[in-house]
Amino acid sequence: MGKVRSTYRCGECAAEFPQWTGKCGSCGAWNTVVEERVRETASAAFNANANASAAAVAIPIAEGDGEGRRPRPVGIGELDRVLGGGLVAGSVTLLGGEPGIGKSTLLLQALSSLARGSSVRSGSGGARCLLASAEESAQQVRLRAARLGALEPRLFLLAETELPAILASAAAVAPDVLVVDSIQTVHDPELASAPGSVAQVRECAHRLVRAAKDRGTATVLVGHVTKDGALAGPRVLEHVVDTVLSFEGERHHALRLLRAVKHRFGPTSELGLFEMTDDGLADVPDPGGLFLSDRQAGAPGSVVVPTLEGHRPLLVELQALVAKSPLAMPRRSAQGLDSGRLAMISAVLEERVGVSLVGADVYALAVGGVRVVEPGADLALALALVSSVTGEALPADMVACGEVGLCGELRQVGQTGRRLAEAARLGFRRAVVPASAPEPPPGIAVLRAATLVEAVAVAGLRIGAKPVGFPRAVPA
Ligand code: TYD
Ligand code: MG
Repeated sequence: MGKVRSTYRCGECAAEFPQWTGKCGSCGAWNTVVEERVRETASAAFNANANASAAAVAIPIAEGDGEGRRPRPVGIGELDRVLGGGLVAGSVTLLGGEPGIGKSTLLLQALSSLARGSSVRSGSGGARCLLASAEESAQQVRLRAARLGALEPRLFLLAETELPAILASAAAVAPDVLVVDSIQTVHDPELASAPGSVAQVRECAHRLVRAAKDRGTATVLVGHVTKDGALAGPRVLEHVVDTVLSFEGERHHALRLLRAVKHRFGPTSELGLFEMTDDGLADVPDPGGLFLSDRQAGAPGSVVVPTLEGHRPLLVELQALVAKSPLAMPRRSAQGLDSGRLAMISAVLEERVGVSLVGADVYALAVGGVRVVEPGADLALALALVSSVTGEALPADMVACGEVGLCGELRQVGQTGRRLAEAARLGFRRAVVPASAPEPPPGIAVLRAATLVEAVAVAGLRIGAKPVGFPRAVPA
């Protein structure tokens, strides 16, 4: 037991200060600096060990073996896609997401699949797995596991919040894969600071990372995320782990999106799609049907956009409703879309196309609980607004994709070919695109437009068609 000393640390960026301050001098956040009591020997010994191992010898880069770095497939298609094949031995993955989004469910399913050893991994008898639950009791986890059909003999369960007990149990079980749910609720009683404090989270994560590297255990840590999307606690967690996965979705929709924010062993551009069902999370390998199944083709105000999530094309229906407002300050509502882009496109429609939204409530929506924030959706949003104003629908087999500039011009967006190929696969035959867009893939024809005014025309919308609407005359 060593001397206890106090330091002051920022909860956001983990910068250390000799005394308390209201504003963090490093990241500028207010009221984030808290006192941290550190027992000197424990901490110093740990820090020394973390960096120096007795057998540390530098070797030529081409020598070391790449074996063991081959990912072990989890057996859940969408998770393996995001992980770039599976979990790598000795790697540490942080799975972040808001409470209730399904992190514990996903990992329980992943562990049971790993323990079962699915047919994909021919000949493998399944991995030894340990789930350390620091949030739910063993009974709660077992009940859920029974419901999900996850009661596998090779899956071990430990309900424990103290880190030394978790590490001891990991040493005894010697799992191939260890899950700690969650890193914020695990603590080490040796450390003087309170459970959940920055110091605890950081030190516990460091020790788990070290154990993962020493034993070659693929380790997954669950991390809670605050409302603004940041991982609660120190950002340093993101630096000590190999992979950061983010699990997102709208609480009221069944759709869940899994992304790799950082990945040392694979791409960060992949997107995994899941649906939350009564039997846990189900893969959505072909999202085409998911977003468009309830679409009312031929309804005014609806336009389909081939958007891109990472490398994955997704066809999403954008809807707009422009309605006469009884309010002095009309409403502007954007759901699943960027409200700034909606405001900009409304202004461009007003000034460059002659469609006035003044005095109207404007609602815009990306259907299905997905968030579409890329500029490639501008054109579809603009056409949806015009279509709602004129009361005319776009043809059912038409999509639109392109960025709208402030002068009303259309700009090409990345990977147009890939987007249009997916649209063609799902039965769309025409696409409104910027004039500069490349030749389309087979099966779909392009209608080119240099400006938003031209796009409105090629989409077959006639401004002024609806007598009760808000259109002004189109400027010559
Ligand atoms: P959970 O995995 O506990 O979320 P997290 O660990 O991210 O906090 O999942 C919570 C929600 O998922 C819960 O509100 C109920 C829902 N759920 C289902 O709809 N179906 C299921 O089969 C399971 C296990 C959970
Ligand atoms: Mg949980």
